[in-house]
Amino acid sequence: AESHNDNSIADPEPFLRTNVEGTFRLLEAVRKHGVRYHHVSTDEVYGDLALDDPAKFTEETPYRPSSPYSSTKASSDMLVRAWTRTYGLRATISNCSNNYGPYQHVEKFIPRQITNIIDGVRPKLYGRGENVRDWIHTEDHSSAVWDILTKGRMGETYLIGANGEKNNITVLRMILEAMGRDPEDFDWVADRPGHDRRYAIDSTKLQRELGWRPAHTDFAEGLKQTIDWYVANESWWRPAKEATEARYRAQGQ
Ligand code: TYD
Repeated sequence: AESHNDNSIADPEPFLRTNVEGTFRLLEAVRKHGVRYHHVSTDEVYGDLALDDPAKFTEETPYRPSSPYSSTKASSDMLVRAWTRTYGLRATISNCSNNYGPYQHVEKFIPRQITNIIDGVRPKLYGRGENVRDWIHTEDHSSAVWDILTKGRMGETYLIGANGEKNNITVLRMILEAMGRDPEDFDWVADRPGHDRRYAIDSTKLQRELGWRPAHTDFAEGLKQTIDWYVANESWWRPAKEATEARYRAQGQ
């Protein structure tokens, strides 16, 4: 997938090609060869929640995507459902919350700030930093997808999340402190247009039906391991860093 909101706002067309047309091509290949298919999607198809709303997203929440990125992911989910019903495809869908951990592209919030600090550049916070994301460690996302692949019911959708709601300024201050910096040592930058306020996942169905549980329940510890990984693996992320920051600079971010 094309997976980054900011890129979709700057140039939506690759998102239609990859996420919508790309999913269509995969579904046609799966139909032809009769193989089991799992579609990895995002909680962003549900739009956003108000900061003070006690509700979380469930499998029954209506689709209300707000960005070019999330609208193309919503479209691809719809294609999977239609192919499942019409052609009897053996498919499942998962919609996961925000991932963090090793091997994440430096355009994403957490790795961008960690690698900026490594480079001696002040981290960048959008808007007022109040937006809430529901963080899950990438290994927990993977173990949930594995459970769905091996035990999930065909045609079903499962939401994946680990009760990790935090606002952006809290996460940024945790990163700064874990890296031995002043927690206020960051820059406020222009907000993202249409910026979703809050995402929150209710993963009861996945836990009840498939017995899945997250292993990384201590966010501070997961963040520390993630920071250590980026410090130790500069050769993995360095090639993408300069071009990523050039794109952000052009957007005033
Ligand atoms: P991101 O990692 O792009 O994930 P998503 O938009 O899919 O949730 O961003 C996470 C949050 O962090 C989002 O509210 C936007 C914000 N953000 C910043 O404040 N500064 C940044 O430099 C980036 C990349 C994101």
